[in-house]
Amino acid sequence: MSETWWRGAAIYQVYLRSFADGNGDGIGDLAGLRARLPYLSDLGVGAIWLNPWYPSPMADGGYDVADYRDIEPSFGTLAEAEEFIAEAHALGIKTITDIVPNHGSDQQKWFLQALEAGPGSAERERFHFREGRGESGELPPNDWKSIFGGPAWTRIADGEWYLHLFAPEQPDFNWDNPEVVEEFHDVLRFWFDRGVDGIRIDSAALLVKDMDSLGGEEAYTDLDGVHEIYRGWRRVAEEYADRILIGEVWLPDQERFAQYLRPDEMHTAFNFDFLACTWEAAALRCSIDLTLATHIPLGAPPTWVLSNHDVTRPVTKYGRADTSFSHADRKHGMPSDPVLGERRARAAALLAMALPGGLYVYQGEELGLPEVEDIADELRQDPIWIRSGRTDHGRDGCRVPLPWSGDEPPFGFGAGPTWLPQPLEWKALTAEAQAANPTSMFTLYRTGLHLRRELLGDGTLTWLSGAQDEVLAFRRESGLVCVVNLGQEPVSLPEHESVLLASGPLEGNLLPSDTAVWLRTA
Ligand code: NOJ
Ligand code: CA
Repeated sequence: MSETWWRGAAIYQVYLRSFADGNGDGIGDLAGLRARLPYLSDLGVGAIWLNPWYPSPMADGGYDVADYRDIEPSFGTLAEAEEFIAEAHALGIKTITDIVPNHGSDQQKWFLQALEAGPGSAERERFHFREGRGESGELPPNDWKSIFGGPAWTRIADGEWYLHLFAPEQPDFNWDNPEVVEEFHDVLRFWFDRGVDGIRIDSAALLVKDMDSLGGEEAYTDLDGVHEIYRGWRRVAEEYADRILIGEVWLPDQERFAQYLRPDEMHTAFNFDFLACTWEAAALRCSIDLTLATHIPLGAPPTWVLSNHDVTRPVTKYGRADTSFSHADRKHGMPSDPVLGERRARAAALLAMALPGGLYVYQGEELGLPEVEDIADELRQDPIWIRSGRTDHGRDGCRVPLPWSGDEPPFGFGAGPTWLPQPLEWKALTAEAQAANPTSMFTLYRTGLHLRRELLGDGTLTWLSGAQDEVLAFRRESGLVCVVNLGQEPVSLPEHESVLLASGPLEGNLLPSDTAVWLRTA
């Protein structure tokens, strides 16, 4: 098994619009990110994954790409992106860009050409255009539903309909068309040529559609044909040295999931099973075991994800009576105990950091930011809010601009009002305030990430606790033992030489409830 950077890397996810604003327009940008690279280096991350940074009308926060070979003007320029890549590399930080192959923007050149060219044209063959059903084609070609709510079809002026699994502004590409295949190979090369080290593949399981199927998700989720696409992508990646493909693959079936990680497909994929797991010892252990059993035979490193730009912030999730997460039920507004939530999120961070494989940290996770649930309805930007008929509050609450410093908004994010408002209470959560505090979430992450680099990363684990225990305890090859107490009562620590790091205060030799510790053992 080769030891390459990505197998054990801590990868920090930058949601650029909300990271740092360099020009004071309230929107994060490349200038802001570049100015904060020392922060990320100090935090101890090995790589940065940026959400889509391409020109976009922002109908879905940039996942509606209008040009795959340029940078969104409000974020900066292509030249700045290249400088960012070089500056990150100079700090020993790898860079990962996000490619959206399932759909483009309705403002993308190909889609505009398809509208213009009319029914039956080669231009329309790059998408899924169909005639409607009913006497005059007034009904959509089938009853597929958009993942964001409402029908998955929109009718255009000449009467044809086009497919969009997400918002109408995101028309789906037709992956049966070799031109589409070629185009994306070229896009991959475009970014690899500019030095990016990895590609995060958006909605990776959805590309191939069975248009004759009347069914629901099974008509477009995880159809066998997707694997040929990623074999092609792997061949492109291997034209370059040490570049990786990371799949966004949400599938409940681990065997199907594992197929994406075969040696001639992707290098890694996000572990959403772990992200969605409840804060319970047996469930977490089961998720960890399943993950290891899925990855180890393939030689692929597991990944550990606690949050991203699509899900509820951990401190909020873990403070609720129901600690599960699903897209179908975000539990918006369910009461959350902030003290309990933070305590558990700290313990979860030490657990995730100690597990073998790669780790993802979503910006703001290291600051312990809560989900912002009281954004005024008229300020909500996530298309899910409107398309669900204002029933699903969507994902804006985990996308609020970061608080960096100072006592009031914009908390050093930029100069003026931010694109989503920041809560006043974030005064206590700024990076500046936390860096100076030895017991802050930031200090826990920074210490943990540095220790992890030295002692953890890729490899295996040996369980020291039983499957039914309320305590998770395991040893890593370096001798580091991680113990997490998910029970109600304090438990004694196993024999050890020293305590390396704890998520909260210990009571002598006892590990309190909802607390994790890293021990050095012989
Ligand atoms: C998954 C992305 O993470 C999400 O933010 C986006 O809305 C959908 N894919 C559609 O591109
Ligand atoms: Ca800006």
